[in-house]
Amino acid sequence: MHLPIRPRRNRRTAAIRGLVRETELTASHLILPVFFHAGSEDQAIASMPGCTRWSLEGLVREAGEAHALGVPAVVLFPAVSESLKTRKCEEAWNPEGLVPQAIRLLKKAHPTLTVITDVALDPYNADGHDGLVSDDGRILNDETVEALCKQALSHAQAGADIVSPSDMMDGRVAALRQALDKEGFIEIAILSYTAKYASACYGPFRGALDSAPRFGDKKTYQMDPANGREAEREARLDEAEGADMLMVKPALPYLDILYRLRQSSPLPLAAYHVSGEYLMVKAAAASGWIDERKLAMEQLTSIRRAGADMILTYFAKDAARWLNDGQ
Ligand code: PBG
Repeated sequence: MHLPIRPRRNRRTAAIRGLVRETELTASHLILPVFFHAGSEDQAIASMPGCTRWSLEGLVREAGEAHALGVPAVVLFPAVSESLKTRKCEEAWNPEGLVPQAIRLLKKAHPTLTVITDVALDPYNADGHDGLVSDDGRILNDETVEALCKQALSHAQAGADIVSPSDMMDGRVAALRQALDKEGFIEIAILSYTAKYASACYGPFRGALDSAPRFGDKKTYQMDPANGREAEREARLDEAEGADMLMVKPALPYLDILYRLRQSSPLPLAAYHVSGEYLMVKAAAASGWIDERKLAMEQLTSIRRAGADMILTYFAKDAARWLNDGQ
């Protein structure tokens, strides 16, 4: 048999494979989501093995460790005590609230760490929704956007680098840009959750924050998993409204969406490898059914290959360590 073209020549040795590798994954592409609360204990999170609800002190330590491993950024998720959750969500823009306190401590301890904040009302909402809820149970878009602007300003005033609206209300990127600019925060970037799907993969996260919706579901604001073109529509709006970066969430079931937006948008793209995706790896590994490290690295590489510049992942510290040991 004469086969002049043999693709396996390019796979013959580790060195050649390295030379032809198309996708690079390094710690510099990773963002670590971190959970924290007002208490003084670091608590293991029952719904997310391997994750911790940190005290503020623990949070500063954890973020410092991630930063030392080469992870450039963290995104903050506060676990707010039940007594502070209201239907108007006032705690979301308290300048002395948990998130502004955390931002100040983090920026003081680690000035070069990029601090990203989540902008949405669910951790503060007695109704558990990302938006304000009317007496007859509707999610109020424009009233929510006003609240999100106050929330984002309280983060910017405390020193956040990037604000990241995860609520999926219409028009929030334009409103946030205007509110930030008006107060002089022209340098604070907006990372928009552009295509955030109504996914079963968020369950463990809602357990971590006790933030599950108290009634109904999030389908009137988060996207239908059946839709791809609609992500393009959201992307065009976010671009026009002044988003600096776009996000697709979750990651693995939506690699086609990432790929589409990579083709159609010049903006940097983030993907969120969410709690359920993390848990599927953790659970299978705990049963001895798969190799955690190999599967996690394959998944993160695939997300990069599909088009993500940056990946939010609970594996950020582990992956950075694995990359540093040179695999
Ligand atoms: C809510 C928010 C959610 C996540 C990030 N921000 C949950 C939701 O929309 O219900 C999920 C992240 C994860 O599952 O890891 N604003």
